[in-house]
Amino acid sequence: MTVNIAASGSLRNRLVLTLIGGAAILALVLFFAIRNYATQVAQQGQDNILSASVSSILDAATLRDGAVELDIPYASFSMLSTASDDRVFYAIYQDDVFLSGYEDLVIASVSGREKIFQTAKYKGTQVRVVSDSRTLIGKDKRTQVRVSLAQTQDALSGTLKLISLNAAVLGAGFFALTTLLSFWATSSTIGQLKRLTTSVTRRGPQDLSPFEKPVPVEMQPLVTSLNSLMGRLDHSLKQSEDFIAEAAHRVRTPLATVRSYAEATLQRVDKEENRQAMRSMVRAIDESSRAAGQLLDHAMITFRADHLKRDDIDLVALVDDLVERLRAIAQMKDLELRLLGDDHVPYSGDPILLQNAVRNLLDNALKYSPSEGVVDINVTAKPRVQICVCDGGKGFPKEDLDELATRFKRGTNAQGTIGSGLGLTIAKDVAVAHGGTLHLSNREEGGACASLLL
Ligand SMILES: Nc1ncnc2c1ncn2[C@@H]1O[C@H](COP(=O)(O)OP(=O)(O)OP(=O)(O)O)[C@@H](O)[C@H]1O
Ligand SMILES: [Mg+2]
Repeated sequence: MTVNIAASGSLRNRLVLTLIGGAAILALVLFFAIRNYATQVAQQGQDNILSASVSSILDAATLRDGAVELDIPYASFSMLSTASDDRVFYAIYQDDVFLSGYEDLVIASVSGREKIFQTAKYKGTQVRVVSDSRTLIGKDKRTQVRVSLAQTQDALSGTLKLISLNAAVLGAGFFALTTLLSFWATSSTIGQLKRLTTSVTRRGPQDLSPFEKPVPVEMQPLVTSLNSLMGRLDHSLKQSEDFIAEAAHRVRTPLATVRSYAEATLQRVDKEENRQAMRSMVRAIDESSRAAGQLLDHAMITFRADHLKRDDIDLVALVDDLVERLRAIAQMKDLELRLLGDDHVPYSGDPILLQNAVRNLLDNALKYSPSEGVVDINVTAKPRVQICVCDGGKGFPKEDLDELATRFKRGTNAQGTIGSGLGLTIAKDVAVAHGGTLHLSNREEGGACASLLL
């Protein structure tokens, strides 16, 4: 019975989504980190030039006869030239009195030696402003000259755009690469699970041996539990097989004794109703001992099939031996057993299992075909190794044909015959253990054909 387990999401999807999500966050962090750092560096560059320019202007300021003279050097502005032709504005004050330049330029109140840098809006565009001051000392006068120098940031924002684009390309590349790596990492991780699943699925239904192939550390507890589960299962299966075998054996021996007593009593009883009762008793004993025998065989076959040992044998010799042993029983029913087919069919298999299977097929042929008939036993090597037992009876009941080889199933034609419904199951199990099948069919001219295809 297969229980369908509901799936609670997919490990692969969860892993891929987590890894891709992580990659996206990392790509964004990378993008913003590069852009911020580049902005700082570019801003620092502009600030340095503005600072040098404002210093060179202040250096040119002199105090003559109490008046400030300032002849702005050409280099002060030329060093500010950029590829984007950024505009430059300046404002010069002497002790809070406007001297020259753009009067409306915002000017920071500077005192001391520290220059002040600001980013502001001027004439509709963003500008970077640096303000600095210098104290000029004359004979009897001290005066303070303050200069503010502003420059638009077109070149800077152009550079930043380029850097942002590069950072975006880098981030996207990083993301794409990490996504590919995520798929690879996920499929190689899930691959381990898949390999385990395949090796579990590929096992035969009888294979309860432990897994011995190395598995990743994380999967070790799962495989260990699986192995211990299979160990317990194997143990309890063996126990129940042993139990059946032991029970069948214990039942069969006293039954044989009871039967011989019942037979002896039957000879001595005269009254017809008592004789009838004794006959029913003998029949019930026969049924029980047949069932016990078949159960014993079935348990033995299940065990041997699990641990199949193959010997090199000649199937024709094996079947011939059986036929000779059953010839006496067949003669009691005036049945002829004919061994046909190849002279030798070499095969590698378990002789005890194969003999048991063929004996059950011959049992059936003797049991279900009418007297004075012929049972043909065909052993051939080609097109495949097979042993066919065909009789001249009424054939298998068509309505049961598909189920006759299942445990304890007896056909509608089995009424009145002794049997337990295990013979064909045993034959089928033996064929399957050898990698083959049991095929049941009815001959056109009448009669059943049971073929062990090996
Ligand atoms: N040669 C045959 N001709 C007609 N019917 C058959 C033949 N062989 C088997 N059957 C049918 O298939 C059924 C299953 O056969 P199977 O050998 O498994 O059990 P069984 O013969 O009833 O009992 P046992 O376990 O004692 O062999 C039989 O009960 C019978 O109905
Ligand atoms: Mg049978």
